[in-house]
Amino acid sequence: MTSMEEHPGAGREPGVPQPSEAELAEMDRDQLVKLGTKLDGVELVDYPDPWPVKGTRAEKRAERVVALWFTIAALAGLGFLVTICWPEWWEYKAPDTGEYEKYALYTPVLGFTLGLSILALGIGVLLYTKRFIPNELAVQERHDGDGKGSAEIDRKTIVAQLADAGNRSTIGRRSLVKRTAGLGAGVMGLGLVALPVASFIKNPWADPESKDNLAHTPWKPEHPGETVYLRRYTGKSDEVVLLRPEDLDAGAMETVYPFRESERGDHEALAAVFMRADAPVMLIRLRPEDAQRVVKRAGQEDFNFGDYYAYTKICSHVGCPTSLYEQRTNRILCPCHQSQFDALHYAKPIFGPATRALAQLPITVNDEGYFVARGDFIEPVGPAYWERKS
Ligand code: FES
Repeated sequence: MTSMEEHPGAGREPGVPQPSEAELAEMDRDQLVKLGTKLDGVELVDYPDPWPVKGTRAEKRAERVVALWFTIAALAGLGFLVTICWPEWWEYKAPDTGEYEKYALYTPVLGFTLGLSILALGIGVLLYTKRFIPNELAVQERHDGDGKGSAEIDRKTIVAQLADAGNRSTIGRRSLVKRTAGLGAGVMGLGLVALPVASFIKNPWADPESKDNLAHTPWKPEHPGETVYLRRYTGKSDEVVLLRPEDLDAGAMETVYPFRESERGDHEALAAVFMRADAPVMLIRLRPEDAQRVVKRAGQEDFNFGDYYAYTKICSHVGCPTSLYEQRTNRILCPCHQSQFDALHYAKPIFGPATRALAQLPITVNDEGYFVARGDFIEPVGPAYWERKS
């Protein structure tokens, strides 16, 4: 008795004569394919070659159309790659500087090139399948498996069937399609790899004392003694409105940005600060009865000015803007993942995934009666990063 007879495969069609192991070893791929379909009870009703006459002009044209789509995928992928690695383009340009229009196109161009690359690759694969893969029509009876797994004969015939499908797809002899498909998929793949890698191009630690360093924010004075004011956000970058304590009612919250006199009239600098993710701060004026219950953080006892407290707007979870201040409960809510921070308790997290308090900005009021920062935050704002210790 042969091993095949001892371990018949699941769903074997009864009545089909089975070859011995020696006969099986001598069969070529076509014979194995036919045997495999018979053993599975599959009847091939129709298995036409889409191009029975090889090398016709129509066949070559179909091949070129497929190659064209793969080439478009490659070019669009290249466009994506170049766009994402081009610092001139993604660095912020203020409106009215002449380059803003180009800067504003950055994200749409990224979306368009990547989208086109994926679309063209998909169309290329679809067209190849439609034009070159034989459309077989086969009928098979449903079988229940007996749980004994596949026998050698089933393994050999299925491998032969897969190889036959690859062979009939004719991809092996279509070098133009193979090359352009490889190029399209390769360039698009490079673009996808470049996406996470591009964020490492700029070294955030190049100058440890710079306000562009990850550990600092634009609230950091650029030289000793420089005054950094709290500036109201009006939506107009050229409009500078500084805040005084009387501008906020009890229980109110206002988003403020840093302003330094050296920036007055500097259109680009005034607009750029609104684009800095680490710049926005919530200035909160507590109601007098709530201010009595405040618990201050050790070492930050003098960071507030009376009932006024300034916390970064950047969530310590993954950096969304924590813009919702609920006056009645004194809670600050981050809409992204519902973290809540207690404004009466140095903005420590009391609900949700955030684990660190919102960084507090030390503030006071200067001789002219305006709110000013007494320095930068004493800890990095926003989420954790590798080098962060606290
Ligand atoms: S970013 Fe704020 S809760 Fe996740």
